[in-house]
Amino acid sequence: MARTVALEEVALALARVNYPGYQTDIVSLGIVQEIAPAPDGAYTITLRGATGREEILRDLATRIHQVLTHELGVPKVEFKVGKIEPELGEKTGKVRLEGTRFIVAVASGKGGVGKSTVAANLAAALSRIGYKVGLLDADIYGPSVPMMFGTSDERPRSAGGQSFYPIERFGVKLISIGFFLNDKAPVIWRGPMVMGAVRQFLKDTLWGTQDFLIVDLPPGTGDAQLTLAQQVAIDGAVIVTTPQEVALADALRAVRMFRQVHCPLLGVVENMSYFVCPDCGERDEIFGHGGGAKMAADEHMEVLARVPIFTEVREAGDAGTPIVLAQPDHPASQAFIELARRVAAAMPQN
Ligand SMILES: Nc1ncnc2c1ncn2[C@@H]1O[C@H](COP(=O)(O)OP(=O)(O)OP(=O)(O)O)[C@@H](O)[C@H]1O
Ligand SMILES: [Mg+2]
Repeated sequence: MARTVALEEVALALARVNYPGYQTDIVSLGIVQEIAPAPDGAYTITLRGATGREEILRDLATRIHQVLTHELGVPKVEFKVGKIEPELGEKTGKVRLEGTRFIVAVASGKGGVGKSTVAANLAAALSRIGYKVGLLDADIYGPSVPMMFGTSDERPRSAGGQSFYPIERFGVKLISIGFFLNDKAPVIWRGPMVMGAVRQFLKDTLWGTQDFLIVDLPPGTGDAQLTLAQQVAIDGAVIVTTPQEVALADALRAVRMFRQVHCPLLGVVENMSYFVCPDCGERDEIFGHGGGAKMAADEHMEVLARVPIFTEVREAGDAGTPIVLAQPDHPASQAFIELARRVAAAMPQN
């Protein structure tokens, strides 16, 4: 006859199960609502629905089965999912913004691939097609939003207490560490400070109501990026890469990171995808061919846009007006508008 496992043992074992993507266990997070003994040594575990997402619930069930069935020898485990409690987002550390419908992160494993250019133009393009948009420059090592929007000399206005108003430019609400720095000296931050700063930006900025908040993440896939992806309730991530091998390998790392924290991946933007010869109009794929598309296919992701390399893209950024607004008919702008449409279409109930 199977040994009966005591309720206390079950409770202790559940306290060893971490919530998928977190270093915190499901008991501390308050996700285990009830542990009820059932006939024949079975247990029914009621979980507070921290999420409606099937894959997370499945992952959670697998983890619980592992400790209860395989390690403790409970003959049968059944699950019930309790009601979804909005404040759980706070407990798991995820920042949700009142008034913001969707948070979209723009990320890349490698630096210099055009992440900030894509983030700025995506924000501008969404605004152009009629959405209310904010842009958070979370790249506090090398903020570029102030330059790209020509607002380097502006300072956010205090709204009393800790809060402040974002800077508004071309209808897009902007916040960046760059607005708070007095000189151009590089900032040296430790991981926890990065998190603190970004969290504070998110919460203390009076964004008002908006459809999208675009987040320009710092390059890389280290602790800072991982924590950020965990702490902000991101509705979707856009991965930027160039077609080069090194960039692709790093982009793949970014993809894996978002998977690890169960953040939905919207797809890949292949930037500096090809060069159009200004004299003959011919396309030249200087960084290689189809790398982004291949990675996307391998990872079951979409290519959301292929953005050509054009001097005008850099010039527009340097001059403080994203190309989408400076030259809306430019081939690069069209690629960004297509990107914006696809991102918008990928949002739930939009
Ligand atoms: N499609 C493009 N055509 C021409 N220049 C581009 C294009 N995309 C980006 N650039 C230029 O490449 C440089 C790097 O771009 P950007 O700053 O957007 O990259 P990043 O990935 O955000 O870099 P970092 O890792 O430093 O944050 C910038 O000077 C930018 O203007
Ligand atoms: Mg950048």
